[in-house]
Amino acid sequence: MTSGVFPGVRPRRLRGTPALRRLVTSTRLHAGDLVLPMFVKESITDPVPVTSMPGVVQHTLDSLRKAAHEAVEAGVGGLLLFGVPAVKDAVGSQADAEDGIVNRALAVLRRDLGDDTVLIADLCLCEYTDHGHCGVVSAGSVANDETLARYAEVAVAQAAAGAHVVAPSGMMDGQVGAIRSALDAAGRSELPILAYSAKYASCFYGPFREAAEGAPQFGDRGGYQQDPSRSVHEALREVALDLAEGADAVMVKPALAYLDVLAAVRAAVDVPVAAYQVSGEYAMVEAAAANGWLDRQRAVLETLTAIRRAGADVVCTYWAAEAASWLVAER
Ligand code: PBG
Repeated sequence: MTSGVFPGVRPRRLRGTPALRRLVTSTRLHAGDLVLPMFVKESITDPVPVTSMPGVVQHTLDSLRKAAHEAVEAGVGGLLLFGVPAVKDAVGSQADAEDGIVNRALAVLRRDLGDDTVLIADLCLCEYTDHGHCGVVSAGSVANDETLARYAEVAVAQAAAGAHVVAPSGMMDGQVGAIRSALDAAGRSELPILAYSAKYASCFYGPFREAAEGAPQFGDRGGYQQDPSRSVHEALREVALDLAEGADAVMVKPALAYLDVLAAVRAAVDVPVAAYQVSGEYAMVEAAAANGWLDRQRAVLETLTAIRRAGADVVCTYWAAEAASWLVAER
């Protein structure tokens, strides 16, 4: 007896045993493809838990060093650094101050870890400005070209501090070109740019704004981040512009609600594609798991697999270190 209209055709044959399923797996997760975002805060003496992201903390410099070391030991491919300064101002001076918290963190991690991992510096102003916007505000709105000049200064400072890669996330037009020129002029033409190219104005950044203390004090980011309702063509245009300006790798953000964008970008480009599984994606799974509504580990691995399957070479995720330890244990 065979079933259906095509006798003998049975897709279930390849699902018969765990070994068969393992053999035909198309998408494998590797610790080395995962990047751990980390927060380091100035003037605290102990790590501060981020309430909306259970398990994530704002680090002291010391706790950052320890956690970074552990993540690298677990096999993660890179670390993505965010700084939270004690003092903010209109232009985000602490983003490029040599003794600013993020640049001190980059320097100490580079000294500790050398080239054993990839230190990626998120390049934006929102954690450093008193108004919480990603750029310089002029006449009530974010001024694109004034902001580019600041990003150029920040890129050079982060490179000098020890970043292996800078990752501009502010969605200003021309930011990749401005940063490329500044790095080249500073003699850092070898330093890669990972561009947050397709970044949407998303509610899923909510918990991050607690972690990075960078919520806008007026308005929102709709004037520079992409509208979620726009077609993937806009994302492809952003990606193409960033590549033309010299981006070495591109990112789509958030991940799970934008897998169509991720797949389209993957199909369109020949550079590495990253995806950022953002704070709200993390918080959703953690909240459901804490209620016993989801199997936490399976949910984490299933979402990461989906993001890889859609085309991401690199996944930024707050679960990077933990997932890396599971993946090693699995073998
Ligand atoms: C800075 C930046 C943000 C995130 C990464 N870089 C916040 C924002 O754009 O509002 C969000 C990351 C996350 O939610 O995990 N511009």
